[in-house]
Amino acid sequence: MKKAVLHVNKHFQVGEVDDRLYGSFIEHLGRAVYEGIYEPTSPFADEHGFREDVIKLIKQLDVPIIRYPGGNFVSGYRWEDSVGPKDARPSKIDLAWSVIESNQFGLNEFIDWTKKADTECMMAVNLGNRGIEAAKNIVEYCNIQGGSYYSDLRRKHGWEEPHHIKTWCLGNEMDGPWQEGHKTAYEYGRLAAEAGRVMKKVDPSIETVACGSSALTMPTFGAWEDTVLMECYDQVDYLSLHQYYGNRDNQTGDFLASTVAMDEFIQKVISICDAVKAKKRSHKTIHLSFDEWNVWYHSNEQDKQIQPWTQHPPQLEDIYNFEDALLVAGMMMTLIKHADRVKVACLAQLVNVIAPIMTSKTGAWKQTIYYPFELISRYGRGTVLWTEVAVPRYESKHGDAPYLDSVMVFNEEHESLTVFALNKDLEEEMHISTDLRQFEGYQITDHTVLYHHDLKAINTEDAPNEVTPRTGGNAKLDAGFLEAVLPKHSFHVVRLAKVN
Ligand code: AHR
Repeated sequence: MKKAVLHVNKHFQVGEVDDRLYGSFIEHLGRAVYEGIYEPTSPFADEHGFREDVIKLIKQLDVPIIRYPGGNFVSGYRWEDSVGPKDARPSKIDLAWSVIESNQFGLNEFIDWTKKADTECMMAVNLGNRGIEAAKNIVEYCNIQGGSYYSDLRRKHGWEEPHHIKTWCLGNEMDGPWQEGHKTAYEYGRLAAEAGRVMKKVDPSIETVACGSSALTMPTFGAWEDTVLMECYDQVDYLSLHQYYGNRDNQTGDFLASTVAMDEFIQKVISICDAVKAKKRSHKTIHLSFDEWNVWYHSNEQDKQIQPWTQHPPQLEDIYNFEDALLVAGMMMTLIKHADRVKVACLAQLVNVIAPIMTSKTGAWKQTIYYPFELISRYGRGTVLWTEVAVPRYESKHGDAPYLDSVMVFNEEHESLTVFALNKDLEEEMHISTDLRQFEGYQITDHTVLYHHDLKAINTEDAPNEVTPRTGGNAKLDAGFLEAVLPKHSFHVVRLAKVN
């Protein structure tokens, strides 16, 4: 059995977790919108066509912000097509996914839906095949009270009050050659600066997100961030990162070590943001918006068979297994460890498309990755403590990787402490221990374990509980020292609270 010692001190803090770290993403893609969140003919739909069974599962995840409407889709998006009387809305081809978009669910419906789902919209503007004017007009339509053409148009459409959308993405993955209207870093940086400037003139209270790289492995990574920020530093508040991983070679050790690469990605982007800050002699700090992250590879082959120009065919319907859930836990812990700089993060995506929630005509169910997201979103709010882990390491294709990932979150207000721990060892149990004597009066309230003997186990509509967390882990606290034995390849949430 390997041993790990976790060192923390409640005064050594990384920073506060911004709730938006537990955001997600809904794109007009596949069955995310149609048959996912919106299906007027479903027995589960409310009077607006919103699926209530799906909303119930989303609420359990406590997702504070949802990016919309894309994704690659946004680079061909004409927001005007998605508002107004539904019978007058055009069906258009969507070049991003070679499908037809009916526009029967649009901007205003999404805002209504976010209210019902207890979340808020993070809106993306099209800086692919459109530009400053369309970006200006959509902010006017959404955020101005009235008295101007586009704000009055919204009122005419039936939405008297502004939507007050606070966070705006300036395009999507503009470094990607697959993007409609793909640009060089300089071209994009200039456009982001001018669009951002104009949008903030319309509504000075908004925040903007510039596109960083679509992955750490992009050939333009690094130079892209530097050039873009040199052009638009003063007009933006966040820089985006996107990253997906897959276990294509069935090397689970390497797959679970992807968090090493994710951590490296975040650290490098922080360095570039701060280098530009220094070059500009600026006092402003750019924060990070990791607004697409997940496992994505299972559906790659089947998606090659899709007939073009159909409406919302199943696309990117990855069926997640247990090891994917472990990596999702690891990725979330990696985000938490950078809570001082990563302020927004979006699990991509939320329903049917590379998603924790799947739907059919007969119901909605939770994929394996639902559970780590739910547990960490629910219990990972508060102050992140610097958690030093002394543990053996292994060689992976991403470099030297620890067998254990762990981080602790302290919530002073609720007098609670949560220990998240992922044992990546595929063969052996792991003994963990940590000195928590500084948390006087605290007791363990529960120890939840996510484990399955089969790394490839999945949940389906017929067997939705194959992979689920269980309480009753073996953590114990003795004279202020916490100890637990973690089974091989398992994820743990140990919660402590002050007992008065
Ligand atoms: O989330 C799926 C796609 O992945 C998004 O549309 C795009 O931004 C990324 O490449």
